[in-house]
Amino acid sequence: MVETVEVLLSSEDIAKRIKELGAQITKDYEGKSVVLLGVLKGAIHFTSDLSRELPLDVEINFIKPSSYGDGTVSSGTVSLDYIPTENLKDRHVIIVEDIVDTGHTAVKLKDYFADQGLASLKFCALLDKPDRREAKDLTIDYLGFAIPDKFVIGYGLDYAQRYRNLPYVGVLKGAS
Ligand code: IMP
Repeated sequence: MVETVEVLLSSEDIAKRIKELGAQITKDYEGKSVVLLGVLKGAIHFTSDLSRELPLDVEINFIKPSSYGDGTVSSGTVSLDYIPTENLKDRHVIIVEDIVDTGHTAVKLKDYFADQGLASLKFCALLDKPDRREAKDLTIDYLGFAIPDKFVIGYGLDYAQRYRNLPYVGVLKGAS
């Protein structure tokens, strides 16, 4: 099947919104040191770009859930393939996610850190597909864009491990 990409969010749209999120987070965490916990692999670019909009004391670490196969539909079960080795007790942590779909990954990640004695935990996502939500009571503290229920790729997001390098977010036509 031939796949084509229709641009949904340009690299300029993304950069502008990340600047705004950065300003908001900077204000909220003034005088504090923050751990950005990027969710691999999809949030690599978002974590990196967001970190450079934070004139704060920032540490970057990553966590890796595995819930998707090579298709476009969530398997619903989420396990953690990689967790940070450093102790995050008493730290202000912001989980930085690429996209919230059903919300199961976000809930799993938040639950994982709930009993680890963090000073605070917030959840930041570049994209949200609210029409797809299955997990109830999920708060996204910092959100880039709400988007329609379409499978998107680019700016870190993949389809079968491809397209992560695109500088924009697009809708993949022809993916099954
Ligand atoms: P959830 O657990 O259903 O919310 O799925 C979240 C994860 O699924 C994200 O971190 C992505 O890795 C992946 N995902 C969900 N929707 C898309 C999409 O439209 N494109 C690429 N990956 C997606």
